[in-house]
Amino acid sequence: MGQEIDLLINYPKIKRNVKERGATKTEEDRVIARQFGEDFFDGDRRHGYGGFGYMERFWTPVVPTFQNHYNLSSKSSILDVGAAKGFMLYDFHRLIPNIKIAGCDISDYAVKNAKEEIKPYLQVANATNLPYADDSFDLVISINTIHNLEKEDLATALQEISRVSRKYSFITVDAYRNDEEKELMYHWNLTAKTIMHVDEWKSFFKEVGYTGDYYWFIP
Ligand SMILES: C[S@@+](CC[C@H](N)C(=O)[O-])C[C@H]1O[C@@H](n2cnc3c(N)ncnc32)[C@H](O)[C@@H]1O
Repeated sequence: MGQEIDLLINYPKIKRNVKERGATKTEEDRVIARQFGEDFFDGDRRHGYGGFGYMERFWTPVVPTFQNHYNLSSKSSILDVGAAKGFMLYDFHRLIPNIKIAGCDISDYAVKNAKEEIKPYLQVANATNLPYADDSFDLVISINTIHNLEKEDLATALQEISRVSRKYSFITVDAYRNDEEKELMYHWNLTAKTIMHVDEWKSFFKEVGYTGDYYWFIP
């Protein structure tokens, strides 16, 4: 069985005014955000990131945790499902020269506007239908991506992640542990279609046969 483990422990903590952000969101904002186009990445803050550029301070402290935990070397291969503009992959590539990297994202905009060095390794694809052969990668990572699918598609995405991984996988999803966190999550959420209690997620993983590692995004 997979392990519940916080491999994003070194991701910088961002102070968010969660309730205020939720209060100003409309259903229309969510519709726009869920297109994962320019508005979501580089448009108004109401629709997403409000400008999505590479910043060293985000993934650079995080990738060594993955390197140590999964014993990654220049002989390893990794896939990022929901790679956006390839920022995390860029930091893997800097940390471990010659590591084989690949990424996919549903967003045509993100892939077209990806970090130049990583563009050749990215393609547009839905997590429900990964364009890679079985057992292609030592490690498949998917950060805050597959909760953007409805439950049935999410099950397919988890099976796809397992199919293309020959060893390890690690995902993070929107979750809550109590009513207070649940309320904050619904205020914060802009794109997720499946948000569950951590115990429900664990049962779901079992039900669909996901045996990789996992952790939670809790605002
Ligand atoms: C939190 S971001 C991932 C950040 C990325 N790992 C990085 O290095 O910056 C989530 C990404 O999931 C993508 N996404 C949403 N639904 C998807 C789907 N069904 N299949 C693939 N990617 C999806 C979004 O376009 C977005 O780029």
